[in-house]
Amino acid sequence: MLRILPIADADPVLVEDLLDAAFGSDRHGRTAYRLRAGTLPIPQHSYAAIEGDTLVGTLQSWPIKLVDKKGNAESLIMVGPVAVLPQRQRAGIGLALMKHMLEDADRAGEDALMLIGDPEYYDRLFGFNADETGGWEVPGPVERRRLLARLRGPRMKGRSGMLAPDPQK
Ligand SMILES: CC(C)(COP(=O)(O)OP(=O)(O)OC[C@H]1O[C@@H](n2cnc3c(N)ncnc32)[C@H](O)[C@@H]1OP(=O)(O)O)[C@@H](O)C(=O)NCCC(=O)NCCS
Repeated sequence: MLRILPIADADPVLVEDLLDAAFGSDRHGRTAYRLRAGTLPIPQHSYAAIEGDTLVGTLQSWPIKLVDKKGNAESLIMVGPVAVLPQRQRAGIGLALMKHMLEDADRAGEDALMLIGDPEYYDRLFGFNADETGGWEVPGPVERRRLLARLRGPRMKGRSGMLAPDPQK
């Protein structure tokens, strides 16, 4: 049976091992890692998926901000990485983790989530798209079609600026 628990319930070493298995150990150079530099995962929006005693998936979320030219900052949550143990992929675990996160985020009134990922997966299933991210810059290379957001309400509509870690949060 699959259980989705707070990530604090998982061994941090096993979480890192799982991320290496899903993304490769060269993952730290990715733009998403620059966006979360110096921050900690948001405990109430980061999860471990556990089958029996085995950690099979993780989802971490991070505090970031969009800073415009005048220095005004709007906070967002960066979702990801979502990672599932290679031998357990395509069995619904990623879906369960994302659904859990989105339900908690909606319940908490979080109106601005973003991620860097495949639109084929995150748009179709979870409503993340690039419609509002055209004016967003990131501290590193990114395929624009993979810079995705799920916005609720008007706060972030039409905004432009640079995305950055938000260690204050
Ligand atoms: C991407 C990932 C998180 C998906 O988790 P998963 O448990 O394997 O996926 P699920 O079984 O929940 O799949 C749900 C649906 O998404 C589809 N899907 C999974 N990965 C996909 C991808 N990269 N692109 C498009 N569709 C995908 C599945 O086919 C399934 O659709 P269906 O029900 O219509 O067949 C997982 O495969 C993984 O860890 N991959 C390596 C790391 C990675 O790329 N993470 C994402 C970037 S943050």
